[in-house]
Amino acid sequence: MIGKSIWTKNAVKGISVRGERRRREGKIEWRNWDPNKSKIAASILKTKNNPEIFLPKTGSTCLYLGSSMGGTVSHIHDIVCGSNNHHNGQIVAVDISPRMIKDMTTLSEIRDGIFPVLADARIVGQIAPFLRNHADWIHQDLSIADQAHTFVKIISNLLSSKGIGILSLKAASERSSEGDDNSRFQKAQKIIMDSGIRILERINISSFEDQHEVFVCSKN
Ligand SMILES: C[S@@+](CC[C@H](N)C(=O)[O-])C[C@H]1O[C@@H](n2cnc3c(N)ncnc32)[C@H](O)[C@@H]1O
Repeated sequence: MIGKSIWTKNAVKGISVRGERRRREGKIEWRNWDPNKSKIAASILKTKNNPEIFLPKTGSTCLYLGSSMGGTVSHIHDIVCGSNNHHNGQIVAVDISPRMIKDMTTLSEIRDGIFPVLADARIVGQIAPFLRNHADWIHQDLSIADQAHTFVKIISNLLSSKGIGILSLKAASERSSEGDDNSRFQKAQKIIMDSGIRILERINISSFEDQHEVFVCSKN
């Protein structure tokens, strides 16, 4: 992180994933991570704690639900896998849209360690077979109703005991909940806490993504 901009070490030198800036520093190439296009990047800037707490570790097993075209996944890949996946990480990238998975497949061909999966993230059985072990890091970023219940199910079944689970919650998607954004966030918080999952931090990223909060969680 330099000032207010975030950079990851580009695992595939000379190539941007969605037109982001790159810069050289000796043999290293850095890629700019745009907080307006990534809720994880926005969370890095908005957290009141050390972002290392919720970023995945090098070589870890990651599950990304709602991977879309892979913008954020590519930065997670820079951190977890590196060039030619020399860190031996795994990122299972799930999306329900065949169009998105087509783009992810193209990305995975030059970014070893990414496994695109066309599946419904609400169904644990469609995802679990692709993970080599329980995930160390999970990010759920799904534009669906009932995001909190889905998160609880996924974390309970697929997160390792010391892992970190991140829910990017969009208030407008919680259609079943009455009230304003804050009461929807409160309701989601209650669902998560009632399940026994611990909330380490709630990060308000609304200055980057309208109506969004990010919940950083662990199992204990
Ligand atoms: C807000 S976008 C994710 C953006 C992405 N995380 C990023 O940072 O670039 C939400 C994604 O969730 C996917 N999605 C919606 N419902 C889903 C479901 N039930 N299972 C898997 N993916 C789903 C959509 O196709 C879309 O690509």
